[in-house]
Amino acid sequence: MTLLAIETSCDETSTAVVRGGCVLSNVTSSQTAIHAEYGGVVPELAAREHLRNLIPVTKQALREANVTPAELDAVAATRGPGLPNALLAGLKMATALAFSLRKPILGIHHHEAHLYSPWILTDPPRADFEQFEPSVSLIVSGGHTLLVLVEEIFRHRVLGSTLDDAAGECFDKTGKLMGLAYPAGPEIDRLAATGNPKAYPFPRPLLNEPNDDFSFAGLKTSVRYFLEKNPTLADDPQKLRDVCASVQAAIVDVLVTKTVRAARRLGRRCVTVSGGVACNSALRRQLASACQEAGLKLRLSDRKFSTDNAAMIGILAERKWMAGLAEISVDAEIEPSWAL
Ligand code: KG4
Ligand code: ZN
Repeated sequence: MTLLAIETSCDETSTAVVRGGCVLSNVTSSQTAIHAEYGGVVPELAAREHLRNLIPVTKQALREANVTPAELDAVAATRGPGLPNALLAGLKMATALAFSLRKPILGIHHHEAHLYSPWILTDPPRADFEQFEPSVSLIVSGGHTLLVLVEEIFRHRVLGSTLDDAAGECFDKTGKLMGLAYPAGPEIDRLAATGNPKAYPFPRPLLNEPNDDFSFAGLKTSVRYFLEKNPTLADDPQKLRDVCASVQAAIVDVLVTKTVRAARRLGRRCVTVSGGVACNSALRRQLASACQEAGLKLRLSDRKFSTDNAAMIGILAERKWMAGLAEISVDAEIEPSWAL
């Protein structure tokens, strides 16, 4: 089948064309520059930009895939969770297209798409579900931090989640305190590469608690107090790099330790990691060595499919369609707080 997928849950307008498990195109227009001015995503601006970008991005995705609308067998879109008006823009555009083509419309869960994105290969981009195996899976993004037990495709259970801020939010908010532009995650990653991760011992929240939950608000507050006590620190380039490396180490230590611990406790052989924070170099490196040490197989989403993208929506939608799942009616509503 040939399927068009649309993702607009936050600040990326993304459209992909997927056929037979292959990603024929995946076009994303990022709004980062617009929101950077405000230090975070402004929901109204995000929705307005999606409305502006959806048609050109969709046309480009069809052109790059060399597919005409008449050749589409279905249209998929992110139904939730996400910013309500941002979701609405993508879902309604997808619904209108599906309705006009008299084709089914599929509503996809954003986190479920992240969850299965480590099973997308890159060269060429295509689904690799033949290699699928049960896993303990970490989803780390700007909006969520979830640890999930995946028994089989579409049979999964949330083990734990963040009690307050998400890991990406912690990167972004502590970076903002240091004067870095939004989103600060990639910049902290870059600066931390030449910083000392042991320079400042920031707390590792819930690290030793016997549960699979996370909490990052306390870490952010501790960085805030630390910077208030050391107001000139961010002006010294080496010290700034040391703070970045130390904050990153605190976040990564918690994520890696709790993920590997859950996998061992539950007797899983495979760990997968996805979501925007899965791009982080220290997380990727530390996970690789912790998994190797614990005899676990590690499957990381490729950086291209870690941050929000429509390819992961399309790959999951096609799979769901084949399983007889995910079709919704043309007047289905968005699900901004859809639980996984
Ligand atoms: O999955 P995503 O694109 O959007 C959400 O669903 O939230 O994730 C965006 C998040 C942002 O918080 C961003 O700072 C973070 O992913 N991020 C990173 C890196 N690249 C993106 N955080 C740390 N290191 C990175 N290299
Ligand atoms: Zn996401």
